[in-house]
Amino acid sequence: MKKSLGRKTIIYPHPVLMVGTYDVNGAPNIMVASWGGICCSDPPCVAISVRESRYTYNSILANKAFTVNIPSVSHIKEVDYAGMYSGSELNKFEKTGLTPVKSDLVKAPYVKEFPLTLICKLLKVVEIGAHTQFIGEIMDTIVDEEMIMASGQLDIEQIKPFIYDSSSRSYYAIGEKLMDAYSSL
Ligand SMILES: Cc1cc2nc3c(=O)[nH]c(=O)nc-3n(C[C@H](O)[C@H](O)[C@H](O)COP(=O)(O)O)c2cc1C
Repeated sequence: MKKSLGRKTIIYPHPVLMVGTYDVNGAPNIMVASWGGICCSDPPCVAISVRESRYTYNSILANKAFTVNIPSVSHIKEVDYAGMYSGSELNKFEKTGLTPVKSDLVKAPYVKEFPLTLICKLLKVVEIGAHTQFIGEIMDTIVDEEMIMASGQLDIEQIKPFIYDSSSRSYYAIGEKLMDAYSSL
């Protein structure tokens, strides 16, 4: 038997994305977004959905830029903190000990301690309802060199990203490799 849950926003998995911005005074800020993901290959784009009440919202509009940083499990506490407190009240980089690094390409900081970052220029703003979708064109992808395997592929087992389950409001690790994609007969 199937049971209807109504109009929910559950999907598996939700990514854990740390969005980096400068506020209108140039102060760096980070917030967690799980409503997001890659949305176009060419031009390469990523979309994040942000409520207007977030401090990040006006920062993205002011600078027309943001970064999407992929944290490792080792920083799970700092990530959760960035999803609980607002940059309008405190400096989350100072509180968490994370390091903002200025991008050369756009007016947004990335997180030095996180292994993978997408540097984004704001391409489109889609007002949906409670959330506004910001589509960023990916201008560069920055990765810790030691996370690149000899094959040139990124090593997900070293990057150790984690996911969010909105149903239980919990974070989960990513499991083992199952099989190669595009390999079924
Ligand atoms: C796991 C998790 C996922 C979240 N995803 C989103 C999201 O996709 N969009 C959003 O607007 N807020 C999201 N939030 C809430 C913001 O991260 C939170 O309100 C944060 O304090 C906003 O920071 P800011 O005011 O400095 O921008 C999420 C929070 C958590 C803990």
